[in-house]
This record gives sequence, C-alpha cells and structure tokens, in this order.
Amino acid sequence: MTAKQADHLRGWIEAQGGRIREQIRQGGSSGARVLAITSGKGGVGKTTLAVNLALDLVLKGERVILLDADLGLANVNILLGIEPRHTLWDVVEGSRGLADIVEPGPYGLKLVPGASGLAALARLDPPTLDALVSGFRELDRACDWLIADTGAGIAPGVLAFSLAADAVLVVTQPEPTALTDAYGLIKALWAEGYTGAVQLVVNRVRNERQGLEVAGRLKELARRALGVEVTPVGVVRDDPAVHHALMRQAAFIDHQPPGPAAQDIHRLGDQLLGRARPAGGGGIRGFMARMFDRYRALAAEDVPSSGEGG
Ligand SMILES: Nc1ncnc2c1ncn2[C@@H]1O[C@H](COP(=O)(O)OP(=O)(O)OP(=O)(O)O)[C@@H](O)[C@H]1O
Ligand SMILES: [Mg+2]
Repeated sequence: MTAKQADHLRGWIEAQGGRIREQIRQGGSSGARVLAITSGKGGVGKTTLAVNLALDLVLKGERVILLDADLGLANVNILLGIEPRHTLWDVVEGSRGLADIVEPGPYGLKLVPGASGLAALARLDPPTLDALVSGFRELDRACDWLIADTGAGIAPGVLAFSLAADAVLVVTQPEPTALTDAYGLIKALWAEGYTGAVQLVVNRVRNERQGLEVAGRLKELARRALGVEVTPVGVVRDDPAVHHALMRQAAFIDHQPPGPAAQDIHRLGDQLLGRARPAGGGGIRGFMARMFDRYRALAAEDVPSSGEGG
C-alpha cells in the first residue's frame, strides 16, 4: 500500500472515531446475520445453494448481501451473469467507497465481489484494518443477512470466514468422500474453538429420505466423536433444472413451475428464517473483524499450506 493510500485510510479511521473494534468485540452493535456457506469437498453445490437461497430470502422480504468469499474461484457473478466492476481492494486503495462496489442482483439482492488478496489485506496494520472494518457499518444498516459463499476445505483463507460467521452452513452430498470431508471440516471448526451454529444441508439427494438418513449419520458422528451439535436444516434433491438454469446464468428457483430443488430451497429458506437470531455477533463489522483476526492467526500457525490463502 502506498503512503497516500495509508493516509486515506488513517483519515477514515479518525473520522470513524477509533473505538469500533472494541465495540464489535463486546458484541454491542447489532446488524446483519452472517451465514457462511462452506464444504469439505469441492463442487458439492455451495455457490448454487448460496445464490438461490439468497434469492429465496430476498423474495421473502429479507434484505440480503451475497459475499463472494471464494477467493480462489469466485463465481457467484458467473452464476448470476454479473460482471463486477470493482472489489474490496478498490476500497482499500481509496478509489471507491464500499457502497460503490456493491453490484445489484435480481430482485434487489446485493452482491459484494470477492475480496481477492485477503492475505495482503490481513497484513495491513491494525488501524488501517479497523478503518476498513468500520466502513462496513453502512452495509450493516442496509441488510438483514450476509451470506458468504466460501471455497471448499480448511485452508486459512476458507476457514477464517466460517470461524467468523454467526452460523456455518456445511454443504455435503451423500457420497462417502463428501461426507468424510464434511466431517473433517466440522472437526477443523471444533479444533479452532468455533462456538457458532453448525448447520448441515445434504445436496443432490435422490429423495428426502436419503438426505435425512445421511444427515442423521453425520450429526450422530459429530456428537459422539467431537461433542459438536450439528443441526440438519434441509436437503436439496438432485434436479436437472439446476443445470439448465446454470447454462442460462439464471437462478433455478425462478424456473416455473418450481422443480424439486426449488421446492427444497423454499423450505430451507423458511427453516433459516425460523431460527433464532444469534445474539451479539456484531453484524458484518463483527464478522469482518473476526475474519481478519482468524485469518492472521491461522496463516501464522500454518505457514506451509497457507500460501496466499486467496
Ligand atoms: N441440486 C442439484 N441438482 C443438480 N445439479 C446440482 C445441484 N446442486 C449443484 N449442482 C451442480 O453441481 C455443480 C457444482 O455446483 P457449485 O459450483 O455450486 O459447487 P461448489 O460447491 O460451489 O463448487 P466449488 O467447490 O468449486 O466452489 C454445478 O454444475 C451445479 O449445477
Ligand atoms: Mg463455489
């Protein structure tokens, strides 16, 4: 970062008053609910579910921001046919405000494009990071939910988003490989002392019964082996409409009449809306502050595999 950029951010933090990080840590501020959508194994349907679930919530009257946090292969924008003009990096550089990088999606959904260069962001000095985090205040006021679509696996640049979220929605498929990796991810959250909600969605199931059976097994294993309470929140059936929608760069929940996967997403949305609001998460600012802290700690612990972490 250049001296000019650093000055810009320092000016910003002075304007914000400085004490924000402390307020966030104490959980004093309210704001959006933050849900991280993640998986152990890649390609299980995280991005597909994140986009369609976000739209389902919007259609139910919620104000939703979808954060493309898959730093390696950001592709929420591809699924929605949106070409983002700016990223979080432009905000750090001072050329854009946060409000400028938000892209409008269907029905009023808001998209925040991937924060590529997370490692570089996490290396910023604490006052500069505080300034960046405090800037999320405006987004907190503008939304009820932040849904973060993350990458797969347990590298620091992935795990940090989950560890910082109010709730983690683990996506798996019924195959043993996907289940083993889902368990590995839950174990990694547990090992890092994650205390938020762990929710489970089994995607691409043949029928509801298969999904519930698989979810039950994983729940039982996590409870027995780790003492972690996993909450199955839904199953999504395998549905060719998902692929057809992808080819049109459209959401499958828009398809008329709604296919099995769309019906399942509607149920999942209702399920999430019915859950209690987590207390003291500090909204998006709390999430971002924790995410940077977690990322730094994990990257320091895990030098060989951390790389850029995105
Ligand atoms: N319920 C479903 N029925 C049919 N196909 C599905 C379903 N869910 C996802 N898919 C398909 O699975 C593929 C992978 O989906 P997606 O890109 O959402 O996975 P991902 O977990 O985000 O992958 P990555 O780990 O690479 O980010 C896509 O081709 C998508 O259309
Ligand atoms: Mg994805």
